[in-house]
Amino acid sequence: MGIPADASPARAAIGRRSFLRLSLGSVAAVTLAGCGLLGSRDDLNTVGTITFDEPLSIPPLLEATSAGGHRVYELVTRSGRSVILDGAETPTWGINGPFLGPTLRAHRGDTIRIDVRNELDEATTLHWHGMHLPASADGGPHQTISPGGSWSPTWTVDQPAATLWYHPHPHGESERHTYRGLAGMFILTDDVEAGLDLPRDYGVDDIPVIVQDKTFDSRGRFSDGDDQYVGSLGDTVLVNGTANAFFEVTAEHTRLRLLNASTARSYAFGFSDGRDFALIATDGGLLEAPVELSSILLTPGERAEIVVTMSGTDDTVTLRSYPQDLGVSGGRARGAGADDELDILLLTTATDLAPRPRIPSQLAQLDDISPTDDTATRTFELGNDRINGQQMDMARIDEVIPVGTTEVWEVVNTHSQPHNFHIHDVQFRVVSIDGQSPPPELRGRKDTVYTPPGSRIRLTMRFDDYADPETPYMYHCHLLRHEDRGMMGQFVVVEPGQRPTELSHHHG
Ligand code: C2O
Ligand code: CU
Ligand code: CU
Repeated sequence: MGIPADASPARAAIGRRSFLRLSLGSVAAVTLAGCGLLGSRDDLNTVGTITFDEPLSIPPLLEATSAGGHRVYELVTRSGRSVILDGAETPTWGINGPFLGPTLRAHRGDTIRIDVRNELDEATTLHWHGMHLPASADGGPHQTISPGGSWSPTWTVDQPAATLWYHPHPHGESERHTYRGLAGMFILTDDVEAGLDLPRDYGVDDIPVIVQDKTFDSRGRFSDGDDQYVGSLGDTVLVNGTANAFFEVTAEHTRLRLLNASTARSYAFGFSDGRDFALIATDGGLLEAPVELSSILLTPGERAEIVVTMSGTDDTVTLRSYPQDLGVSGGRARGAGADDELDILLLTTATDLAPRPRIPSQLAQLDDISPTDDTATRTFELGNDRINGQQMDMARIDEVIPVGTTEVWEVVNTHSQPHNFHIHDVQFRVVSIDGQSPPPELRGRKDTVYTPPGSRIRLTMRFDDYADPETPYMYHCHLLRHEDRGMMGQFVVVEPGQRPTELSHHHG
């Protein structure tokens, strides 16, 4: 989180130099973009240039109250000002604070209610990304909350432990609202996860790592400096709203809950000394067994839980994003930020590290949802601002799915540009990528997957419950500018034989 401007009068005076350096960097990037062809840009490399002198801010865990058998959370969307770069106040949006939002945590089986009040002067929504829930509680574009209004969705958490998140989803405005700062983490726990020897002390050895890239103008305001086809690429990476962040590790194993909450940028997360880490969970929860990796690609909206091992009292390592293979090359790769190399978060050790047992070799049992020959298959062609040749229409239901079924969704990126694919309500499994079985990091529960140009990705998922012919869920590209421009469609889950209800543009 940014430090509320009013809470830190002393900070404005110090460290003006680092603000100047960052803002000059932004000016240079804008100038470079301005003199080439539309969208041309140079690679960005920040390795060795980050001061890492700000303690990582940890979003507070939101306490729930109980009322009528519900766990009740209160969220208020508002605008504010935050000191993110020294010497400047940035106008920001946040939830229960000026920038970003608190972390919500709920256990499988909890019946929860979230009371959202919108104190912004425009309508927004809050969507619980990755959550299995009734469509009317989903917080998509049909559940707008007008200025001064409120909304109280309720549901029973019934899915495995996972790192989910929440962000706004007003039609055509998701990019702007999320970029301004409306985003937070939503951690689900369950008995399986609780029974494993994993780091889970929030803010101590279990750390939210919400990664967003921003561009600041010369007065410290957010701006979209570097507009590319994928969206706006920032030159300053914030973690939990902190620029130049460091975190002091206190245990041998630290669990990082990586969330790519950027609107456009993909990250290939790894460590500066090339050390391996254990991937334990993807979007929808734990893997069956940890996977040793030295880097993992997360495109916008994706999450990964990794456990990093530190040793001794002077171990220091940087979480970095490496150049990545997005299946594009040349100018398209540069324009997608694929060749950028970014230092993100410094991990240091200062005390003796608390010893920890080995990471368990078995994690969770995953449901088998392998498709059979007669599993219904739908195809989704990703094109320029379109899915299956159509732009999003709030009044059109694109897909009608009978409840209680398993389906295969075949997603084909027929465009020359990077896109990804996100489905509301369900967690899917990747069956194949261009006919090949997926790599280990894509074998777990997922709700968002990268779809390189030319690729054909088969997903399988179950639609177990929550039939509602009136209220659609969304599927879309999670590069938010693409979503806003119409790369989104709507599906309803219905009782067999039921037909969807006609929608009006401003429903709910
Ligand atoms: Cu994270 Cu439809 O969104
Ligand atoms: Cu979502
Ligand atoms: Cu896209």
